[in-house]
Amino acid sequence: LAKKATRKKTTTARKATSRKTSARRVPPKRRTAPKRTAPKKPSRKVARRKTAARAAASRKRQTQPKPKQTSAVAKAATAAKGVVAGAVKAVAERLPWSRTEPDAIEMLEREHRQFEGLLKQGEDTTDRAKKTRREVLSTLTAGLNEHELMEEKVLYPALQSHGEARETVLEGYEEHHVADLIVKELHDVAEDDEQWAAKFKVLKENIEHHIQEEERVMFPTARGLFSREELLAMAARMRGLRAGAK
Ligand SMILES: [Fe+2]
Ligand SMILES: [Fe+2]
Repeated sequence: LAKKATRKKTTTARKATSRKTSARRVPPKRRTAPKRTAPKKPSRKVARRKTAARAAASRKRQTQPKPKQTSAVAKAATAAKGVVAGAVKAVAERLPWSRTEPDAIEMLEREHRQFEGLLKQGEDTTDRAKKTRREVLSTLTAGLNEHELMEEKVLYPALQSHGEARETVLEGYEEHHVADLIVKELHDVAEDDEQWAAKFKVLKENIEHHIQEEERVMFPTARGLFSREELLAMAARMRGLRAGAK
C-alpha cells in the first residue's frame, strides 16, 4: 500500500512537472499592438513616371486657352469703333475722289470680264443647247448695246480731241460696228444650225481683240490724260446713260 502511495505521488509529481514544462514551452500569447510600418517608398521608376505625368498635366493647363472675358467697356469700345468705321466709309463713298467707287475705266473693264464669261459660255455649247444659246445671245446683245453706248457717247468723244488717242478711237468705232453686224446675223441663225457655232466663234474673236485694244492702248492713254475726278464724272454720266437705255 505504501509502495502504491509512493508510485501515485511520483506519477502526480511527474504530471505536474510535465504540465510546468509544457507551460514553459508555449509562452502565453501576448497582446501586442500591430507594428507600425513606414509607408513604402515608391520605386525610382514609378516616381519618375509620376513626375512626367504631373509635368504633362501642367503643360496641358498652360496651353489651354483662357476663356475670354469681355468687359462691358471693351464691348462698348468695339461697338463704337464699328459705328465710326461705318460713318467714315459712308462719307468716303460720297466723295468724288472716293477710292471705292469705280471710275469710267474700271466700270468698262468690269463689263469686259462679263462679256468674256458670256462668250466662253456660248462657245462651250452644242447644237442641242438651244435654250442656253438663246439666253447667252440675248444677254450679250443687251450688254453690248449699253456698253457701246457708254463708250461712244462719253469716253470716245472725250479722247478723240487728243491727237495721241484719235487713231485707236476711230478703230474702236469700226470694231463696234463689225461686232453689231455679226450679232445681228446671229439672231437670224437657228440655234441648232451648225452655222451658229461658226458665227459665234468669229464674234468671240472679234470682241476679244477689241477688248485687248481698249485695255492695252486706249484705257492707259485715258488714265494718262484724265484725272481721277474726271474719270469719276464720266462714270456718273455713263450710269445715267445706261439707266436711260433700260
Ligand atoms: Fe468698245
Ligand atoms: Fe469696251
